[in-house]
Order: sequence, then C-alpha cells, then structure tokens
Amino acid sequence: MPLPRLALPLLALACAATPAAALDRAEVQDLMVQCAACHGADGVAREIDVPNLAGQHDVYLYNQLKAFKSGARKHKEMRYLGRHMSDEEMQAIAQYYAGLPK
Ligand code: HEC
Repeated sequence: MPLPRLALPLLALACAATPAAALDRAEVQDLMVQCAACHGADGVAREIDVPNLAGQHDVYLYNQLKAFKSGARKHKEMRYLGRHMSDEEMQAIAQYYAGLPK
C-alpha cells in the first residue's frame, strides 16, 4: 500500500509543533534576574511568604505561570510578571528552576 498523501504534511506539522529550542542561556538569565529578588537565583526563596521553585516539576511551574497570566491564580506581582512573559519564556524559566537542586 502506498503511503497516504497526508503523511508528509502531518510530519511537517508535528515538527513545527515541537518547541523551537526556546531561549538561550543568556535570555533565561535575563529573565531569572527578575525572579531572583523574590525566589532567589538558586530558586530558594528569601521570604517566608514566597515559595521555593528549585527542583519543582517544570510542568507544575509552567502551569502556575500560565494561571497567573490568565488570572486563574490570583497574585498581584505574579500576575504582573506573567503578563509580560511569552509562552516560550514561561517554559524556559520553568525548566531553569526545575533543574536546580532543592
Ligand atoms: C515581587 C516578588 C516576586 C517576584 C519578582 C517573582 N515572584 Fe513568583 N511568586 C511570588 C509570590 C509571593 C508567590 C506566591 C503566590 C501565592 O501566594 O499564590 C509566587 C509564586 C510563584 C510560582 C508558583 C509556585 C508554587 O509553588 O505554586 C511560580 C512558578 C513563580 N512564582 C515563578 C516566578 C518567576 C518565573 C518569576 C520571574 C519571572 C517570579 N516568580 C517573580 C513572588 C514573586
């Protein structure tokens, strides 16, 4: 049986959907500087009312950032920060903090 005509366009689509290696190290660093004041550069918060991010699951972190951005999870500062972050930035910073030791 010949390959269905659909196979190629579908393959192209699947490739386009995979994240385009998101941000480089310097870009993540620039972003992280904005979070470090509260969450620490090492992902360990300095204040008792700020959660630690280090070693947290990246999908969880990303989902929280999306929730702040949409307003589903309410918090003034995080909403403000979320509003200015693209989806790629949220993914990259979530991966950065997830990769740090707890
Ligand atoms: C002004 C201080 C401040 C800054 C700056 C800040 N955050 Fe937060 N962040 C908080 C506080 C406070 C919370 C807890 C919110 C709550 O109580 O719901 C929080 C919560 C979070 C959460 C949810 C964590 C959890 O365990 O549910 C994530 C993820 C997060 N911040 C990521 C970031 C990222 C990424 C940045 C940088 C772009 C950032 N934050 C910058 C104060 C800050």
